[in-house]
Amino acid sequence: MASPVVDDVKVERIYDITVFGASGFTGQFVVEELARVVDEENDLKWAVAGRSSEKLRAILVQAQEITGKTLENEIDIVVANVNDEDSLKTMCQKSKVILNCVGPYRFFGEQLVRACVENGCHHIDISGEPQFLEGIQLNYGSKAENAGVYVIGSCGFDSIPADMGVCQIREQFPGIVNTIESFLTASSSGSGTVGHYGTWQSAIHGFANSKELIGLRKQFQHKPMPRYQPRLTKRSSVFYHDQSSKWAIPFPGSDVSVVRRTQRFMHEKESMRPIQYGAYVTISSLFSLFMLIFGGLIFSILARYKFGRNLLEKYPRVFSFGAFSHDGPSRQQMAESSFTFTFYTEGFSSKEVEEKGKHDLKMVTKVSGPEPGYVATPIAMLQSAFVLLSETDKIPGSGGVFTPGAAFAKTSLIKRLMEHNFKFTTVTEAKQI
Ligand SMILES: NC(=O)c1ccc[n+]([C@@H]2O[C@H](COP(=O)([O-])OP(=O)(O)OC[C@H]3O[C@@H](n4cnc5c(N)ncnc54)[C@H](OP(=O)(O)O)[C@@H]3O)[C@@H](O)[C@H]2O)c1
Repeated sequence: MASPVVDDVKVERIYDITVFGASGFTGQFVVEELARVVDEENDLKWAVAGRSSEKLRAILVQAQEITGKTLENEIDIVVANVNDEDSLKTMCQKSKVILNCVGPYRFFGEQLVRACVENGCHHIDISGEPQFLEGIQLNYGSKAENAGVYVIGSCGFDSIPADMGVCQIREQFPGIVNTIESFLTASSSGSGTVGHYGTWQSAIHGFANSKELIGLRKQFQHKPMPRYQPRLTKRSSVFYHDQSSKWAIPFPGSDVSVVRRTQRFMHEKESMRPIQYGAYVTISSLFSLFMLIFGGLIFSILARYKFGRNLLEKYPRVFSFGAFSHDGPSRQQMAESSFTFTFYTEGFSSKEVEEKGKHDLKMVTKVSGPEPGYVATPIAMLQSAFVLLSETDKIPGSGGVFTPGAAFAKTSLIKRLMEHNFKFTTVTEAKQI
């Protein structure tokens, strides 16, 4: 792969991959998955990093016990703290790619991106925070490009399935894609599942500061995107989706923001027709829907005030009605959980039909996989890193801030994901409406 530029520094990049925040809840599963699959790649050297060497050592011991791979005394430990610029610099100069698992990214993310750009090291994160992701694009896009550094955000469950799912549909659809709506269904058998506190905390502060996005987006001074007809169906904040036979709400994560950025990139850089995209989540029962509306109301009031945010942070289980906790899911709960995105695509069979502005083709596809936060996310993050290391020639440009779709559309990422427990399937082949 082409080496990023670092001025005036003699740098020896000892590690192909450094997992930063390896001692965190998500970080530990990234370490385990890396230990499991690293031998599938060509002679790859990796390290774990974080602010406590004791915790990192314990993570290596635990991953060794679980995977049966020799890690203790084999895998290096790098001590680095977001608040210590020199430690970040040293870590970046030793690494080709850093997998950043330290969040919430709005508090801890920018420092490492800056260090990566200044020290010629690629950066992959699993942020689901649009303000962070778009802010990094605004403030580091050209700097990263000039440095030959790839900063690729949202490479976890947010937003690889949605973004790569849309990329695959564009390839597969036998005509012109105009609109895609995705409906996420999360399933868990047995005792149900929970998300870990880190994601809850990111959601609280993302919601509290969601207005920032308006100002941020103005600063890009983007040209308006072309407005194709028919427009994407306008959905209300709660609606019944006939095709899923379920109630649904808009997906509260970063998928729409990420997919739209990918579509803008493809339109501006590759002259592609942008696809209109909407993301929704299905709700399993009317009772769950009422709980969600009630919980959402309390969350939205509390998240506005410091006192309320403190309460939300202190009692995640109470205020999320059991959806998040300080402990996160058990391994058993993770083993019993999965996700499915169902994509409903509509478009035109030809240019002539497109001119009439009425869809004549539709198709239904799915992207599914294991437990989203701590099984699917490490798989997606690691396969993204392997692709970045081995297929740089298929990633556009020579650096910059990218979404997964913009970076990986032409690479083997989907194939790799399918080899690692993700499924990309066609439910109904494209047919006339
Ligand atoms: N995209 C997705 O689907 C997805 C899935 C899972 C997680 N995530 C995101 O990943 C992030 C982490 O979540 P989590 O649940 O793993 O959180 P977590 O358990 O709280 O982990 C946070 C990590 O950050 C480290 N850290 C905190 N302050 C630091 C500092 N000053 N310097 C260096 N390291 C520092 C912690 O180190 P110590 O161990 O030393 O405290 C820990 O390793 C969140 O933003 C979450 O939203 C996204």
